[in-house]
Amino acid sequence: MGNRTFAIIKPDAVRNGNTGKIYDRILQADFKILAAKLLKLTKAQAEGFYAVHKQRPFYEELIDFMSSGACMILALEKDNAVSSWRESIGATNPEEAAKGTIRKDFATNVQKNAVHGSDSDENAEKEIGFFFTESELIANQ
Ligand code: CMP
Repeated sequence: MGNRTFAIIKPDAVRNGNTGKIYDRILQADFKILAAKLLKLTKAQAEGFYAVHKQRPFYEELIDFMSSGACMILALEKDNAVSSWRESIGATNPEEAAKGTIRKDFATNVQKNAVHGSDSDENAEKEIGFFFTESELIANQ
């Protein structure tokens, strides 16, 4: 299993003032933050990042939401990072997320679900590469 994953604190959570509380969860779960950027995604960036969902009925609304305000973009490191982060964030739909997970505690609904997490090691590397150069992962140096 890989040791890196990619995370986004989404516009709903940033707007609601939950960035610091979600950082606490990240650090309490023993992730190392390799890199972080506060970014307002362009529509083109959001479309490129979520291209895999292009055929889904919720795609256009997802792009509008993800480009609607600042996002905190993160590269995280920990053993089994992908599965560990997915466990920390909980199910996509906060109504189905386990107690104590980030989405249960901070998400608004299935779209405005507070955070993103990569679903595989392969996608984690792709997603980190979408927003960061290798030299920006400064905790590695
Ligand atoms: P994320 O884990 O970032 O991956 C795809 C995103 O699409 C997901 O989080 C939600 O923000 C959004 N999404 C997934 N399913 C739905 C749905 N049924 N309706 C609206 N948005 C969704």
